[in-house]
Amino acid sequence: MKNVLAIYPGSFDPVTNGHLDLIERGAKIFDRLIVSILRNLEKEPLFTLDERVEMLREVTRPWPNVEVDVFSGLLVDYAQARGANVILRGIRAISDYEYELQMAMMNRKLKPDLETVFMMPAVAFSYLSSRLVREIAQLGGPMTDLADLVPAVVEQRLRAKVL
Ligand code: PNS
Repeated sequence: MKNVLAIYPGSFDPVTNGHLDLIERGAKIFDRLIVSILRNLEKEPLFTLDERVEMLREVTRPWPNVEVDVFSGLLVDYAQARGANVILRGIRAISDYEYELQMAMMNRKLKPDLETVFMMPAVAFSYLSSRLVREIAQLGGPMTDLADLVPAVVEQRLRAKVL
């Protein structure tokens, strides 16, 4: 068997249980998994990069083969620099597919040897997104309703952020 190192890239603002579900699945089938947060200078995030790294490190502690990192620039260049053979992305519904296919094909054009692997999170998370979590928290929605959608550390930090 080959030694497969996968990168799971994203904004993770904040990490949700849907991301965690995918990390758990990825950690099972890849030898190593690097969860990599994009340092995006254009977007104004709710959580700083350091906060997102801290939360991800805490929630991925149960998996010894999972690492948390930060990247900037092209994903394919970062993947090559880390020696990764796979990019892992989640697809929740058909609506994700078009954007994901476009990215996967462009990444393949840039680096033909790098494979994109799609995995589906549990159906319970099919409607979940970081954007909706941020919106609910910022607009004063009940945090108790988010309790089964985000890890406890994220719920606590969301409460503190919007107080
Ligand atoms: O979870 P997100 O925010 O949808 O993740 C998007 C991400 C980080 C995977 C994508 O924006 C990305 O790879 N950005 C890095 C820049 C890059 O490589 N762009 C070309 C993509 S074909």
